[in-house]
Amino acid sequence: MAALLVVCVTMLAMVSKGLTVPAGARQGRDRLTAEFLTDYLNQQQRLPVQGPVEVPNWPRHDLELGEVAGVDVMPNGDVMIFHRGERSWEADTFDDLTNALPESKRINITRSTLVRLRANSGQVVDSFGANKFYVPHGLTIDKKGNLWLTDVGTDQIFRIPSGQTEPDLVLGEKFVPGNDDTHFCKPTDVAVADNGDFFVADGYCNSRVLKFSSDGALLGKFGMDTRGVGVDSPYSMNVPHSLALIEDLDILCVADRENQRVLCYNAGLGDTKFGQFNRTLVPGGEIGQVYGLAYDPNAAVMYVAALLSQMPVMNRGFSYSPARAFTYDLEGNYLGGWGYISPSEAETGPSIPHDIAVSPNGNDVYIADVLQHAVHKFTEPQNKNYLA
Ligand SMILES: *[C@@H]1O[C@H](CO)[C@@H](O)[C@H](O)[C@H]1NC(C)=O
Ligand SMILES: *[C@@H]1O[C@H](CO)[C@@H](O)[C@H](O)[C@H]1NC(C)=O
Repeated sequence: MAALLVVCVTMLAMVSKGLTVPAGARQGRDRLTAEFLTDYLNQQQRLPVQGPVEVPNWPRHDLELGEVAGVDVMPNGDVMIFHRGERSWEADTFDDLTNALPESKRINITRSTLVRLRANSGQVVDSFGANKFYVPHGLTIDKKGNLWLTDVGTDQIFRIPSGQTEPDLVLGEKFVPGNDDTHFCKPTDVAVADNGDFFVADGYCNSRVLKFSSDGALLGKFGMDTRGVGVDSPYSMNVPHSLALIEDLDILCVADRENQRVLCYNAGLGDTKFGQFNRTLVPGGEIGQVYGLAYDPNAAVMYVAALLSQMPVMNRGFSYSPARAFTYDLEGNYLGGWGYISPSEAETGPSIPHDIAVSPNGNDVYIADVLQHAVHKFTEPQNKNYLA
């Protein structure tokens, strides 16, 4: 359902721009029409890239990835990818009434869903995670190198200790969606604090955020009960899809995907009360549906991955935004758009930048494209003006 929604919104956006909606655009990998492409690329060439520049031919070998849901960077700089192998999330993957993965769809993914690469060459140095996950979604790596994964197929959250392949912590009951303290519904992402507390974005059906201690004890939650809360309220989220913790400010930022905004709440690690609204980083509608967040403490900037958008960028001096990634400072000032789709990619079909990650030293940024089955590497994040 959510996947279908994504495609529909993309098509609507194309219609509103007066572009041709490609026949069969529901099939993620159908070719776009020549007319759409020409129009799109003409627009694109007028905009400078302000931000990280793509590293060409990375990785050097075809990784033969499935839908790439997550990307993050290990403490040593290696890149980790979480992908769906031979599985894809289709409109009929889930039971619309129960939100559960029907028994007929509970089929192992036999390929390794986790792939570890060297940052420079993109050479594969490890792969694991076959026959474990059903619809891989979020991947977060904490400072110790632990992997935190969410599976929207099983409604679970996993912590895999650094260097291991089996989880030492699992939250949620396998294949049983729910909204109490021990059940989740298509959880999307995790953020981890230095003290081991972690936050879960839950997710496609519950639209809430929960906080746990490192042993999995619930510490708080917000966003669930939105009765009587207007859509303008920061507590009325619609698919919190990605989390980014800014420990210096003790705030947790949430990509409120379908409301097309990024909101930050007090993280409650210090004296603040967890869940109190703190600030708007990206106002609703400015850059389209927001899929991914990555905070770089080196530069104190937030990298934001949003749906390749036909929507106007409001009040920022230009009227058209085909970028897939954006840089914001912590006051919510827009610093630039980048990550433009290349002509050859555009020819292979729509793009959804599903996750974004920054290396610990801040020099490299990665974007996982779920529809293109690809991961892109970008560098020179300080770049201010490079013509695409
Ligand atoms: C699926 O994977 C599990 C391990 O997680 C294994 O025990 C089981 O035999 C597999 N099922 C099939 C049909 O291969
Ligand atoms: C938001 O966070 C900042 C930085 O921690 C803090 O100084 C400020 O008091 C917070 N604002 C609210 C409304 O909680």
